[in-house]
Amino acid sequence: MLKKKAFFFIFIFQIILQSTALSKEVNIFTSRHYESDIKLYEIFRKNTGIKVNIISGEAKALEKRIIEEGKSSKADVFITVDAGALGSAHDKGIFQEIKSKTLETSIPKNFRTSHWVGITKRARVIYYNPEKVTSEDLKNLSYEDLSSEKWKNRIAIRPSSNIYNISLVSSIIENQGVEKTEIWLKGFVKNFSREPMGDDRAQILAVAAKEADIAVANSYYIAIMLSGEKGEEQKKAAKKVKVHFPNQNNRGTHMNISGAGILKNAPNKENARKFIEFLLSKEAQQHIVNNTYEYPMIKGVKLNPLIEQFGSEFKQDMTTKVDSYFKNQSKALEIMKISGWR
Ligand SMILES: [Fe+2]
Repeated sequence: MLKKKAFFFIFIFQIILQSTALSKEVNIFTSRHYESDIKLYEIFRKNTGIKVNIISGEAKALEKRIIEEGKSSKADVFITVDAGALGSAHDKGIFQEIKSKTLETSIPKNFRTSHWVGITKRARVIYYNPEKVTSEDLKNLSYEDLSSEKWKNRIAIRPSSNIYNISLVSSIIENQGVEKTEIWLKGFVKNFSREPMGDDRAQILAVAAKEADIAVANSYYIAIMLSGEKGEEQKKAAKKVKVHFPNQNNRGTHMNISGAGILKNAPNKENARKFIEFLLSKEAQQHIVNNTYEYPMIKGVKLNPLIEQFGSEFKQDMTTKVDSYFKNQSKALEIMKISGWR
């Protein structure tokens, strides 16, 4: 009888051992494709013994796969860029609630929700050509001012289908209301120097080539270009362009995030939480910021010099909650189309 009992306990013990061995991993579905992220995940494995498996791909494709696989999905964490995209993923019911005191303390309220949190920040700034724009032009310049006749045929920006632009307009709706935003959009679109085309870097190139005097694009792109990783020509062009942080005398510059959530059917929920908490640690934040030129989510992290040179003390919009970017998304897109923004 005793022998039987002992065998039984050994059997149970083996099962526990096996399951802990199995759970020493976390599966990350990510649309961020940075070499440096892989190095970071290796640090996490060394610190915790939890192996990080990465499935990378385009955000919408990953999201579709997670939904289709449903309960059999192996995905633990979904990482992507733009609060509007994260909000849209949450709207489809893919995340579970994140309960973490660590995350609540480290991430400012406006950059997190109950189901997904910001990891890094990016500003949507105004790029300008100093040969075409004076310091007087830039004084207190806000997004709202860009609808003024003064900027006629001077602005470059990418198409309205771009999520960064939709999120920017959503944040303006959140602050000014739909009606005022619609009026603003009509003036803003009239000021475009050309049909919207290309990505964010293409707008910076347009300003360097004097095809436009100013452009609206994300902050880290200028640093990517200056780093030389996109070739000598783009590096040279980026040197001709400067950065202005809009809305300094009111709510602050529009901030967006890259962020993460734990998936509803995550097989390794605890590891997923530990992984996201690790991403918000000082070590991880410093690593990310060094390599991607984004702004850190937490305090006490040094900016990459390539981005710091444009100013580190600017006022960021810390009052507009980033989940409003999804809440106002369909309205934003609707009025962008009405305004004639291609
Ligand atoms: Fe980007």
